[in-house]
Amino acid sequence: MRRLGSWRHLAARFWETLRAMPLGPAEASRVRELLRSDVEQALFFGQADVDQRHAFEAAQRVAGIAPARTDLIRAALLHDVGKGLAPLGVIGRVAASICHKLRMPMPKSWSQYLRHDDLGADALEQAGCEATVVAFARHHHRRRPAAVPEEDWAVLEASDQKTPEIPGDAIR
Ligand SMILES: [Fe+2]
Ligand SMILES: [Fe+2]
Repeated sequence: MRRLGSWRHLAARFWETLRAMPLGPAEASRVRELLRSDVEQALFFGQADVDQRHAFEAAQRVAGIAPARTDLIRAALLHDVGKGLAPLGVIGRVAASICHKLRMPMPKSWSQYLRHDDLGADALEQAGCEATVVAFARHHHRRRPAAVPEEDWAVLEASDQKTPEIPGDAIR
């Protein structure tokens, strides 16, 4: 089963959603430098502004502690692109997350949104992305797959959880 995080984590993501700013020109240009194909660009920029901001900040956190690890930076940058393939507004996201945690039935669009990990991973795999990028997109709400080393997974997971001790302006 997917792990969506604690109620506190969901509340933090909701707050992040409400206050997120669209990427500025310099930030978008840094993202383009990290992306390798038109398909990757379409997947990244097909996300809502809030998800672009979340992914950019996750990539920043990784770059802050592992600046030479382009594979991990790209994995953080692309991990939620499935949300652009199953778009849902803020209220729908909150409702879907609550229904999931309470194991209640939900409309198809909500369950599609909750499958954004697999949707994104399949698209990234088809686009020819490296294994780490595909693995983090597929498993970021689950346990670490054996193919990804523990220390790499720890960096990636921390980047997605807004761990404050990781410095965050290295890819601006
Ligand atoms: Fe996600
Ligand atoms: Fe995320």
